[in-house]
Order: sequence, then structure tokens, then C-alpha cells
Amino acid sequence: MILGSAEPFISVEQVQVTYGQGSAEPVQALSDINFAVPEGAFVSLIGPSGCGKSTLLRAVGDLLAPTSGRITIGGTPAAELRQKGRIGVVFQQPNLMPWLRIEENVRLLHRLASESGAKLPPPDVEGLLRLVGLEGFGRKRPAQLSGGMQSRAALARALALDPAILLMDEPFAALDEITRDRMGIELMRIHASFRKTVLFVTHSLAEAVFLSDSIVLMTPRPGRIARIIPVDLPRPRLPEMRLTDEFARMVAELNRELYRMMA
Ligand SMILES: Nc1ncnc2c1ncn2[C@@H]1O[C@H](COP(=O)(O)OP(=O)(O)O)[C@@H](O)[C@H]1O
Ligand SMILES: [Mg+2]
Repeated sequence: MILGSAEPFISVEQVQVTYGQGSAEPVQALSDINFAVPEGAFVSLIGPSGCGKSTLLRAVGDLLAPTSGRITIGGTPAAELRQKGRIGVVFQQPNLMPWLRIEENVRLLHRLASESGAKLPPPDVEGLLRLVGLEGFGRKRPAQLSGGMQSRAALARALALDPAILLMDEPFAALDEITRDRMGIELMRIHASFRKTVLFVTHSLAEAVFLSDSIVLMTPRPGRIARIIPVDLPRPRLPEMRLTDEFARMVAELNRELYRMMA
């Protein structure tokens, strides 16, 4: 399944992941996963808990090796790109080091990657903090920031690697709904300016519709791709778009599709 007509950038072919292979009760988490994402696209993964969204994201980021299959990014195997420090990851928990200042946290992964031999351009920490709306907070410690601001810092830390792709696993799930909506709007603005290819896991259908060029619907046991749904809303996506009938129709359609899948 190819999303859009453009040339694939992330390419996932015949990927299977089985946890505990060789054990008494192996779990087949992903089966027969095939899809491709064009460069610069924003793609969301949606599906019931346990359908393999995190597993798929981790496989694309080479945080786990698929049991079989092939994943390339811009023609380079994911593992090779990971070694070069060019994959940015943001999880639900910002996981900032509490004793480091925000600017040191933003620099941290870049420093670690460089120390293990990756050749990365030095990050413009000031510019990144400005981009994520944390200008002036570089000298603060994580505990002095709200949850939303810590999420922004985690995003800046991932972007400091100048990643070829950005993988986000429910990055705003721990935030209250108002902050979460605001982060979605901010992420759109940031995506429009850095134009990275993004794979984004979310439980929120509205968030997926608002952010994505395409939505990958997954089903569990074993995790498979059920459908890929293009989102034809124009860009730039503006906050007020979420109040239109067209937007509500798309969210309702996605909801129906999810119910059909789970029936
Ligand atoms: N480290 C692991 N060991 C064994 N089973 C796992 C592990 N991680 C995930 N699983 C199983 O793999 C399936 C997919 O999990 P996951 O990718 O976390 O789904 P999702 O992110 O969609 O909720 C689930 O059945 C889960 O229990
Ligand atoms: Mg998950």
C-alpha cells in the first residue's frame, strides 16, 4: 500500500514481528505489514490498544529488529540511519533529565550520538527552542516547566538530531485536552516549517484527521494494516478547520470504520 502517488521515502516491506519467538507462548505483534510514506508526509497510525502501533513505530526506528521483512528510509536501511543518529523519537513521557537545564536536555541526544561517532551538524538550540515555543526557557530545569512545555522540549531534543524522520508515539496522550489541542496546532506549524516525514501514533481520531496526510488503520491479533485513509483537507491546517462540517464528517467516518473493524 502506497500513500499518495509520490515516490516512497519510508518503505516497509513484508514486516513481521513476533515477541518471544521460541518461547512457549510467542506473540505475533505484526503480520504482513507493507506500506510506503512519501518524503515530508505526516502519517498517523490508529487502532485499538495492542494492535501493534508502538511495535511498528519501534521497528521503523530500529528500536527493535523485525522478525522478518525490510525497512528502508530514503533507500537506507533503518538500522544504518539509526546508527548515524538520524532518527528522532518522541514518546508519551518526555523523559527529560531532571538535573539538566532545558538547553542541555535539548542537546543531550545529539551529544550522545556524536560521542558514539555520528557526524551531525551542531544543533541551533536557541532556534529550536524558539521553534517549539520555549524561547527564554533554556536555563530552566524540567520541574519548572508544565507538562505541555516538557513535551515541547522533548520535540526540540528529537529535532536537534536533524532527523531524517520523526517518530512520535502518543506524544500528547498524557496532556489535558486543551493543552493537547494546542500542541496539535503547534505541531502543524512546526511540521510546516521543518518538513520532516512524521509517523505519529495517536488514540485521538480528531488529532489524526487534523494532523495527517494519511491515516493508517490497524487491527489486532496479529497487528495488520486494515485500511489507509487519505485526508484531503487543504494545508496549511488552521485551528478553525476543526470546527467545519467537513472535519466532523471525516472524524465520524473514521469512527464508523473503527467500529466496523472491531465488530
Ligand atoms: N516486549 C514485549 N514482549 C511481548 N509482547 C509484547 C511486547 N511489546 C508488545 N507486546 C505485545 O504485542 C502486541 C502489540 O503491542 P503494541 O505494539 O504495544 O500495541 P499498541 O501500541 O498498538 O497498543 C500486544 O499484544 C502486546 O501485548
Ligand atoms: Mg502503544
